[in-house]
Amino acid sequence: MNANVLPRWRQPSATQIRVVKVVIFVLCVLPALRLGVLMWRNELGANPIEHITRATGWWALTVLALTLAVTPLRRVLSVHWLLRVRRMLGLFCFFYASLHFVTYVWLDQFFDWQGIIADVIKRPFITVGFSALLAMTPLALTSTSAMVRRLGAKRWLALHRLVYLVAILGVVHFLWLVKKDLTEPLVFFGVFALLLGVRVVYWLKDRRPGPAGPLRTSVPKMP
Ligand code: HEM
Repeated sequence: MNANVLPRWRQPSATQIRVVKVVIFVLCVLPALRLGVLMWRNELGANPIEHITRATGWWALTVLALTLAVTPLRRVLSVHWLLRVRRMLGLFCFFYASLHFVTYVWLDQFFDWQGIIADVIKRPFITVGFSALLAMTPLALTSTSAMVRRLGAKRWLALHRLVYLVAILGVVHFLWLVKKDLTEPLVFFGVFALLLGVRVVYWLKDRRPGPAGPLRTSVPKMP
């Protein structure tokens, strides 16, 4: 679709995008702030460590789903400016996954590295969670525009396909750790399946011969 004929809401000004970014930033910080306040007031319930571990894990997975929703939404609704908030969402996913890991290492295991290594080896859901965090790390480290330039668009895109692996590992981690009610992890499974499914459909469409559309690649814009 020609950018000049897009409805106004689809092409916000730079100021509007800045406002949207600030709003998203505040919304993403709120769960961490809430946890901090509850901790400060001693209101985390009977098992505070479990509360923090579960909340940070849940938010890591939720923000990951929001990050992965950017490209399908952008393509289905032609809201290209959404790409401008994707990096921030991805970094917030890493932030919550790191908090989740720090909670486990510090509050749960008290830096007992031998116990942690044994846990990673012996408990499959921990192995999978750890693998998800490992796969996420290079994505966070290469999220800057300088790194996009350094790697080149092709290699950057190839590396960032790891995000699909992170999504699969994140959901498997959740499915594996839940003992009784599988509803929530199955909802995450459905959401990720839908998001990845839309990408597969567009990928198949893009493979068909024809002129390359403006939406084929989604490398962040470099200033
Ligand atoms: C080193 C990495 C990780 C470790 C050691 C770890 C460990 C844990 C532990 C111990 C729990 C609580 C289990 C329970 O209460 O029975 C948990 C829950 C969870 N973790 Fe992880 N995890 C890791 C990485 C991740 C990552 C990368 C994600 C997301 C992308 C994630 C998502 C979740 C979710 C969604 C929950 C359940 C939250 C809920 O009950 O609502 N974890 N994890």
